Amino acid sequence: MTNPSTAETRIGTERELDPSWWRQAAVYQIYPRSFADSDGDGIGDIRGITSRIPYLERLGVQAVWLSPFYPSALADGGYDVDDYRDVDPRLGTLEDFDAMVEALHRAGIRVIVDIVPNHTSHRHEWFREALASPKGSVARARYIFRDGLGHDGELPPSDWTSTFGGPAWEPVGDGQWYFHFFAKEQPDLNWNNPEVHADFLTTLRFWSDRGVDGFRIDVAHGLAKRLPDELPTQAELDALPKDGDHPLWDRDDVHGIYAEWRAVFNEYTPAKTAVAEAWVAADRRARYASAEGLGQAFNFDLLEADFEAGRFREIIAFNVELARQSGSSSTWVLSNHDVIRHATRYGLPPRGMSTTKAGADWLLSGGTSPVLDAAAGLRRARAASLLELALPGSAYLYQGEELGLHEVPDIPGASRQDPTFFRNPGVDIGRDGCRVPLPWTATGPSYGFGPGGAHLPQPGWFAASSVGAEDGDPGSTLTLYRTALALRTRLQGAETLKWLPSERDDVLAFERPGGWMSITNFGTMPLALPEGELLLSSVPLEGGLLPGEATAWLQR
Ligand code: GLC
Repeated sequence: MTNPSTAETRIGTERELDPSWWRQAAVYQIYPRSFADSDGDGIGDIRGITSRIPYLERLGVQAVWLSPFYPSALADGGYDVDDYRDVDPRLGTLEDFDAMVEALHRAGIRVIVDIVPNHTSHRHEWFREALASPKGSVARARYIFRDGLGHDGELPPSDWTSTFGGPAWEPVGDGQWYFHFFAKEQPDLNWNNPEVHADFLTTLRFWSDRGVDGFRIDVAHGLAKRLPDELPTQAELDALPKDGDHPLWDRDDVHGIYAEWRAVFNEYTPAKTAVAEAWVAADRRARYASAEGLGQAFNFDLLEADFEAGRFREIIAFNVELARQSGSSSTWVLSNHDVIRHATRYGLPPRGMSTTKAGADWLLSGGTSPVLDAAAGLRRARAASLLELALPGSAYLYQGEELGLHEVPDIPGASRQDPTFFRNPGVDIGRDGCRVPLPWTATGPSYGFGPGGAHLPQPGWFAASSVGAEDGDPGSTLTLYRTALALRTRLQGAETLKWLPSERDDVLAFERPGGWMSITNFGTMPLALPEGELLLSSVPLEGGLLPGEATAWLQR
């Protein structure tokens, strides 16, 4: 089974074998199609990633998480997987993948891959077999098929709507319908079927044996489902408590799946890690993060919060305590491939608790209304990122945030790709605006993304935010991230934090072990800093004071 002589031992120092490497890692999310394109076809690829390892090394991250790179028709940006144990030919080959893992490991960077177990793509061999097989067949039992209502099954089994908009049932022409949480190209698997369990264990071993260090689990709270014979209506479904016994979401029995996976992860030395993408109530998150389960779970609380001291404090205190109780470490996320970039979110009017939907109107207006205060957004984003990087636990960074990139709001409809755009005409513009290929140079084809074009149009303002423009500029966001990540690696101690008193309620100050202090001024009045050596600040001090909407790190 495991061949520990692969990449793990090639890097084999004690530090690399540290079983707790993930607890406080800075993990950089790569959206492979939009990171770097080596062959000029406009789509980022595996060799592109390998070519940028010096950049990642210089940035100072401990791991990368790769969004899906598997064969896919890209109905949902690769989250519609045709084959879980291969590389999309447009992105490369398994040999390219192995070479990338080896090179990343040589650079001391761990590799986390995305696993999408809730649904396959409709082109997956299992689903093709299900469509070609009759009602009641073994092939259909791997998915969630139901008879339609009406005389000939011409009506859907229920009025359920999909997360991406539109109906959640799709007819297959013989009176049966299949269920999909997301796009119709993403049929949900039936996790009550032992064959589904066995196949994913094979997939986890496949990538583990190739040397990956961990997994990010897509829609981890959705796999286990119990559909009653008589289906409730959507309204009835929405009214049911999400207490572990909901027919579709966050069921207690989902943890049986992760216990099986944990046994596989623990076959390796060091054990493979996993982080759950589980959009569940905060108090139900800990179970996904338990040592018997996936080990870590995303905490999206900060990503959903406005730039506001009280809310940040509440979230931080709650999650640090939650991590302590569960034995896991906290995770912090400000941006990812599903939400509006945080520089932009913070430059729009505050939205209370629904910031993932924040800016929906702004996006729909093509970025014209309300008016974005781009400079204020970036200023707050830099302050929030510096605060985030001082917190105990791991920080998940999304490609491009280290450049201070804004969301791209004005992608023409004809160029858009995200299914949420197509399934919700006029209501949801989709997530393409945070997935535009990265600008590496200030000039040249596709701003250095590759020798050809870019699969989503890049705006002219990308030039000023390119790696080329920011590299070496002491005031750039790239320099801020590089400096912060290097300091963080040096200063990171035990996973604790002590709040420091402040007379102002728009100020958040805390100290980490060893006297490392982080102070954020969420207000606009300049702030006198406590005694200590200034390590770094998100904007220069003015007259010895920390300006508004800024963070400083000090050493006591
Ligand atoms: C997760 C992914 C998102 C994808 C969805 C369906 O939420 O982050 O990008 O569309 O799952 O797989």
